[in-house]
Amino acid sequence: MCGIIGYIGARQATPILIGGLRKLEYRGYDSAGVSVFDPSGGPMSRVVRCRGKLSALEEKLQKEPAPGTVGMGHTRWATHGRPSDENSHPHKAGPISVIHNGIIENHLALRAELAAAGAKFSSETDTEIFAHLVEHALLAGAPDLTVAVRRSLAKVRGSFAFVVMSDKEPGTLVAAKNSSPLVVGLGDGENYVASDVTAILSETRRVIFIDEGEMVTVTRSGVQITDFDGKPHVREAKTITWSAVQAEKGGFKHYMLKEIHEQPRAVADTLVGRVNLESDDVVLDGVDLDVAKIKRIIFIACGTSYHASMVGEFMVESLARIPVEVDLASEFRYRDPILGPGDLVVAVSQSGETLDTMEAIREAKKKGAQVLAISNVVESSIPRLSDHAFYTHAGPEIGVASTKAFTTQLVGIALLAIYLGRRTQKLSKERARQLLAELVQLPVKMRDVVESGAQLQALARRYGHAHGFLFLGRGSQYPIALEGALKLKEISYIHAEGYAAGEMKHGPIALIDEHLPVIVLAPRGPHYEKVVSNLAEVRARQGKVLAVATKGDNEIGGHADDVILVPDTALELQPILTVLPLQMLSYYVADFKGTDIDQPRNLAKSVTVE
Ligand code: M6R
Repeated sequence: MCGIIGYIGARQATPILIGGLRKLEYRGYDSAGVSVFDPSGGPMSRVVRCRGKLSALEEKLQKEPAPGTVGMGHTRWATHGRPSDENSHPHKAGPISVIHNGIIENHLALRAELAAAGAKFSSETDTEIFAHLVEHALLAGAPDLTVAVRRSLAKVRGSFAFVVMSDKEPGTLVAAKNSSPLVVGLGDGENYVASDVTAILSETRRVIFIDEGEMVTVTRSGVQITDFDGKPHVREAKTITWSAVQAEKGGFKHYMLKEIHEQPRAVADTLVGRVNLESDDVVLDGVDLDVAKIKRIIFIACGTSYHASMVGEFMVESLARIPVEVDLASEFRYRDPILGPGDLVVAVSQSGETLDTMEAIREAKKKGAQVLAISNVVESSIPRLSDHAFYTHAGPEIGVASTKAFTTQLVGIALLAIYLGRRTQKLSKERARQLLAELVQLPVKMRDVVESGAQLQALARRYGHAHGFLFLGRGSQYPIALEGALKLKEISYIHAEGYAAGEMKHGPIALIDEHLPVIVLAPRGPHYEKVVSNLAEVRARQGKVLAVATKGDNEIGGHADDVILVPDTALELQPILTVLPLQMLSYYVADFKGTDIDQPRNLAKSVTVE
């Protein structure tokens, strides 16, 4: 999500930090800052930071220069706390400065603990807590910065990459990693630390990728890597041969493929701090609903977010038993919808800037409904316009075709459905416990699917020459059929239709012949038998069937030409797994055709016209 760079050496740090951050700009950010040791001033680190683009930071640095040869820089993509000067990184507590990528899950409890011990906070961020923890560890007798960071790490839960500096130890940078990326760059009499290799590639190609649960102490003369208990880890440096453009994409050919692979991690970030396995409940930060007053829920959204909303209808109705409607935001106003105070409108938008969705929210608010936004971009227009906001924390999505934004929306809506179900008392504690346990296991299951690229690549080669595709699904797999068709259309320019499987016989069956690949979503569940009958109908007309089914299903192979298997999970969560092979198939078909996958023709990432 956020961009991180640190430098320690003999050259002026600020230009290197700004240069590195500029290489990370493509990821999107809303504020930036640096902390640099000024040898002539104490030594004291100078923090310069502000909301806005790097050019705003550079302007500020003209007025408040930050000279020095040790420093770190950060671009923030807001998660906890709105984008503002105060919430920009680095954060300081006494002699300690910290930059951070990720989310500290137990930040509220730690904040209360530190405040009781006298800490004064100057931001709304979870990150500032870590600066205070390290300061407290030093005050409590930690002999150096490395030990102070190690003792502080023992207190935090969540995903993070931290870089920490201390005014008392100006020759050292200490960094630590859990889930968020971190790499060390090795130079000659100088070293670097960064969130992405891109940030340091113009300075060095010799790097060490830091592993989960490792921390590193970086000085001018070397790096020392240990685990969080201080046990040394010996690691070999690698020489990076990627071009700068390849490095931006993390070695993947396209952002879309990178984002497909980021999904397990993105979903884990959506879940951070929201699942309480002790009380079998969901914690929804930023959402304060009077559930007893909600008589109806109306989802409004466009494109992929609309498909997430359609799945949401199944989730909320089945788990909370509140009636749900789903509307295209672009159509909502034109039917003069009947709305009132008993209605909760849920506006789903990755970018938070889609004009159609904004206009639909205005209509809903005018008519007295409450609005909850589900968005990926903190403080974007849609959450600001809404009464409540839930952020998916998927990290910036660069590819125009939405992938990780979609799966994290589904996870967000599943959390909302469980939250509502517990409060309407239609969802038992026992069932909530099972669903939450399944949600927590999703990232591992998703990894299993996204790593099966070779099979999908082979299928794309086999079917990619077709002139059209049909996608079929029943129940909550119907929106996934729509999403699969949309993905394929968007990036490969092949005509594709998504249909409710039961509707095939009412028309589209006329299209079926040996040239039409039909992708059928057939995971285990209540509709399985009926879907298998639909497969038979397709094959009886020489159609080619590609089935997406559940691992362990030995029957489906007899009904399909090709089978893609995904792990089993709770019925309500199956769409989060079955959509993954469809995203990958679309990607590989488009790649096979050589289209501009990340910026398909005629499309924009955020649609701010009606
Ligand atoms: O940012 P939003 O979620 O509001 O965007 C809605 C649609 O424009 C978007 O989902 C679009 O359909 C994507 N290109 C799908 O891949």
